[in-house]
Amino acid sequence: MTSPPSLPLHTGRLLLRAYATGDVEATLAYYGDPQVSRFLLSEPFALDDAKAAVDRRLGQTHPTEPGDALALVVEHEGRLVGDLVLQLLGEQSSMGEIGWCFHPAYAGRGFATEAAAALLHLAFEHYKMHRVKAQMDARNTGSARLCERLGMTKEAHLRQDWWSKGEWTDTFVYAVLAAEWKCVEQPTLARPQGRCDLHVSIGDR
Ligand SMILES: CC(C)(COP(=O)(O)OP(=O)(O)OC[C@H]1O[C@@H](n2cnc3c(N)ncnc32)[C@H](O)[C@@H]1OP(=O)(O)O)[C@@H](O)C(=O)NCCC(=O)NCCS
Repeated sequence: MTSPPSLPLHTGRLLLRAYATGDVEATLAYYGDPQVSRFLLSEPFALDDAKAAVDRRLGQTHPTEPGDALALVVEHEGRLVGDLVLQLLGEQSSMGEIGWCFHPAYAGRGFATEAAAALLHLAFEHYKMHRVKAQMDARNTGSARLCERLGMTKEAHLRQDWWSKGEWTDTFVYAVLAAEWKCVEQPTLARPQGRCDLHVSIGDR
């Protein structure tokens, strides 16, 4: 069984930590916004929804079985700016699915890219995953661009496969393989093998 991840994770500007009971208000601050939840599976949160979500995510610190998840909040200068989840999938949890949600007040600064890159690093280096995917409403251009910044490949455009908020919606599936991620993180080592032309921009530009 994989050991628990060593938390918190630190990046250039961010801290990624497990949920705490005091995160309800900060979670409600963005999950309560209809614009934020537009492409999420959930409706905008009320206070009870935020309490239930934080309560559930408090226990998501040490996934071991397929279906289990690691849930992290993202802090910048002591403020909660967003959250991420990594769900274990497949035989022996050798694959994963990543998800994200950030407060719009902190958009456009590369925080989601920086945080998601740290979680992908954990997926491949700690959990030894072979492949990580992300799925989103095809109208969610912000998430699709984020996948592309992370060096993920668009593998599928599923037509009207999901009933969401009163209508049939299309889904994009993006993924990155472990070998590709190594190319992103260690481009000078990987390029001589001719494996990779990916690029990811993380941190200050
Ligand atoms: C999806 C989501 C996280 C994307 O947020 P975002 O602010 O676009 O992403 P980042 O924080 O990585 O910021 C990237 C933007 O900042 C810019 N940027 C500025 N400084 C940057 C830096 N140092 N590094 C990378 N990008 C930087 C990028 O150019 C990009 O702008 P662009 O999209 O206009 O090209 C956000 O829209 C969200 O939380 N949406 C609601 C929840 C949701 O839909 N979740 C997904 C469900 S599947």
